[in-house]
Amino acid sequence: MARITAGLATSHIPAMGMAVDLGKTAEDYWKPVFAGYDWTRAWAETERPDAVILVYNDHASAFSLEMIPTFALGCAERFAPADEGYGARPVPVVQGHSELAAHLAQALILDEFDLTIMNALDVDHGLTVPLSLVYGQPEAWPVRVIPLAVNVVQYPPPTGRRCLSLGKAIRRAVESFDQDLDVQVWGTGGMSHQLQGPRAGLINKDFDTAFLDRLVSDAESLALLPHIEYLRESGSEGIEMVMWLVMRGALGPDVEELHRFYHVPASNTAVGHIVLRPTDHHDTKAG
Ligand code: DHB
Ligand code: FE
Repeated sequence: MARITAGLATSHIPAMGMAVDLGKTAEDYWKPVFAGYDWTRAWAETERPDAVILVYNDHASAFSLEMIPTFALGCAERFAPADEGYGARPVPVVQGHSELAAHLAQALILDEFDLTIMNALDVDHGLTVPLSLVYGQPEAWPVRVIPLAVNVVQYPPPTGRRCLSLGKAIRRAVESFDQDLDVQVWGTGGMSHQLQGPRAGLINKDFDTAFLDRLVSDAESLALLPHIEYLRESGSEGIEMVMWLVMRGALGPDVEELHRFYHVPASNTAVGHIVLRPTDHHDTKAG
């Protein structure tokens, strides 16, 4: 049986990817930002899942505004980094896990979550920046990744409750896969940020802190937060945080918080990062 062993959430700020790619992470501006991932990089050395289900949003890179699936599952063998207008990031091609992905597509769709099946998909900074933050600059990514793209770009995005429910369904789907696999689920995006309009640069530390607290111990009620509250409190792009609820739902009712980091600023965005462990997890495959 496959199992969910951990959940991780992080901002996916493109400038952080640039800082990695251009060798700037030790500069004064970036040093405290990347220091927040030291714990995670060490943890990730000791904890290599067989697959990561990486919940992210495409920023009109693979999808144009002509076609916008609400939830899209990457079922391909590999996913190339997208060209977002200045050439693709110099990062490895992402290796998928098409067997587990096909199982997830079947299990989730028959569980009444109508995902779009992606047999080809280029992945943008929403997916590649989190990999860089956790794994640095390897020749090849050390894990297989199943992309799960969520529309948070054009209204209406899915509700927080739908995202939490999808996470719960992902847990059931993973646990019904007959191979012995350790699977992590990552949520990305956020935290508070607004990139445009009169409120550009908005950051709300109180909202972000409460979001992190409630994500750990009060996820069911956090999931009821309406879109308009994300918009008011965390800026127009803060809605990316609904993707963290997919991750949270996949971990089951109770979690242990292993690591948390929050920092302002990085680019125009509050950097948030958390690592969670389901409390009913088993340490070893035999366990
Ligand atoms: C920024 C943050 C994002 O999450 C994003 O997708 C694009 C830009 C930023 O802070 O610049
Ligand atoms: Fe984003």
